[in-house]
Amino acid sequence: MINIIGISGSLRKGSYNTALLKEAAEIGKGEIQIASIDEIPLYNGDVEAKSIPQSVLELQQKFKRADGILIASPEYNNGVPGVLKNTIDWLSRPATIIPEIFGGKPLAMMGASLSGFGTILSQTAWLQTWRLLHVNLWNEKMPFMVSRANTALDAEGRITDAKIRQNLQEYIEGFIAFVYAQTALNRSEEVQRLRSKP
Ligand code: FNR
Repeated sequence: MINIIGISGSLRKGSYNTALLKEAAEIGKGEIQIASIDEIPLYNGDVEAKSIPQSVLELQQKFKRADGILIASPEYNNGVPGVLKNTIDWLSRPATIIPEIFGGKPLAMMGASLSGFGTILSQTAWLQTWRLLHVNLWNEKMPFMVSRANTALDAEGRITDAKIRQNLQEYIEGFIAFVYAQTALNRSEEVQRLRSKP
């Protein structure tokens, strides 16, 4: 089994992005664990200088243990949502921890929005951050996004459109296969490294 951590960048109870992530986790059958960002405080360097908040430490532990990362991000004003960027910023502190949290880890993005353009601009804006954090961005498929989410998901947050459901299934299965392949590669490299030690 692999362990993919999934986070949604919306705090809203009826969030389409959280609903999408839950659908993905159902497809992932125990290999995708959703973590909440509700308790993450606003980043403040003075707070960091005293001690990293417990909620941040707990989320960092979950990221450290993860073989892969799945992000469901809304789009706000053609950019990234502040609460999610704030969470990623906390996760990257202190900067020496970045390789353990993000370094080389497979990451896939998805998003849902009310507009007809899905979340293409926020997903594009995220790329700069993923590049800096040296994630292993999964690019084999087109970015997954749901436009006009209010018509694609019902009041319970279930995808009603068969084509979108099928696309999500293929996207998640493809990402899981990628995480398996990368995890096997990393583990075999680790074995080689240990074997080559004198
Ligand atoms: C939005 N929304 C939005 N949608 C979009 O496609 N492009 C955009 O630039 C924006 N901008 C934007 C700014 C702000 C401040 C808000 C609150 C909303 C609409 C957005 O798609 C909608 O609120 C989604 O429902 C947000 O995702 P969740 O909360 O349903 O996951």
